[in-house]
Amino acid sequence: MPGQEAITAQYDRVAPCYRVLSPLFLITPLARRRGVAALGLRAGDTVLEVGAGTGRNLPYLVDAVGPGGVVIGVDLSARMLAEAAKMVGRRGWSNVELVRADATALELDRHLDAILFSLSWSVIPNPVAALRQVWERLRPGGRVAVMDLGITETPLRPVLAPVARQLNRLGPGRPDARPWDDLAPFGEVATDRFLHLYYVCAVTKAGAPQRSSGSP
Ligand SMILES: C[S@@+](CC[C@H](N)C(=O)[O-])C[C@H]1O[C@@H](n2cnc3c(N)ncnc32)[C@H](O)[C@@H]1O
Repeated sequence: MPGQEAITAQYDRVAPCYRVLSPLFLITPLARRRGVAALGLRAGDTVLEVGAGTGRNLPYLVDAVGPGGVVIGVDLSARMLAEAAKMVGRRGWSNVELVRADATALELDRHLDAILFSLSWSVIPNPVAALRQVWERLRPGGRVAVMDLGITETPLRPVLAPVARQLNRLGPGRPDARPWDDLAPFGEVATDRFLHLYYVCAVTKAGAPQRSSGSP
C-alpha cells in the first residue's frame, strides 16, 4: 500500500474520471444507500463524511438531513473535492461544506450526529486515527457507518484477489481491511454483508440520554 502522499496524488489524478471508473469497482447506488441508511439520520442532523471524494454520497446525505441539516465533506485530495464542489454548485445546495484536510488532523468545531466512511476506511492509511479525531464531536447515540468493499470474508476471494490487485493501481486501498475489528473498541459493531463484496459496519456511540416513558 503506498503512503499518504502517493495515495492523494493518485486520487488527484483519477478525480475527473472517478465517476466513469466507478462501475469498474462495482460501486452501486445500492451500496451507497445502505451506507447512508446505517447512519439513522433525521431531518436537521449534522453529518460528516470522511474521505468524501467527488461527493457521490452527497445526494443521499443531503436528502436524509433535509434543508435544515448540514453535510460536511472532508477530503485530502483537492481535485476530488473540486469535483464535489461542482456538484454542490450544480444542485444549488447551501447546506454542504467541503473541507480540504487530512482527516487524521482535522480540527472540527461542530457537534455531529453521524459520521460516514464510504470506500475510505480502506484507503486512509490510519482510519482509526481519523475516527478518534472526531469521536468527541459525535453526540451520544450518534452513529458511525463504514461502507466499503473488500475480499476478506468472501468465498469469491480466489477470483477477486487478482482483480483487486489490478484495480488497486487505479484507486489505492486495502481490500483486506477489517473495520469490524478496528471499530470494536468504539462500541458494539453491527456488520451487514451483501453481494459477496460489500459491507456496512455501524457503531452507535454509547451514552444516549434515556427517553421518558411517554415519549415516542
Ligand atoms: C475511494 S475514495 C472514496 C470517495 C467517496 N467517499 C465515495 O464513496 O465515492 C477515497 C477517498 O479518501 C480520501 N483520503 C485518503 N486519505 C485521506 C486522509 N488522510 N484524509 C482525508 N481524505 C483522505 C481520498 O483522497 C479519496 O478521495
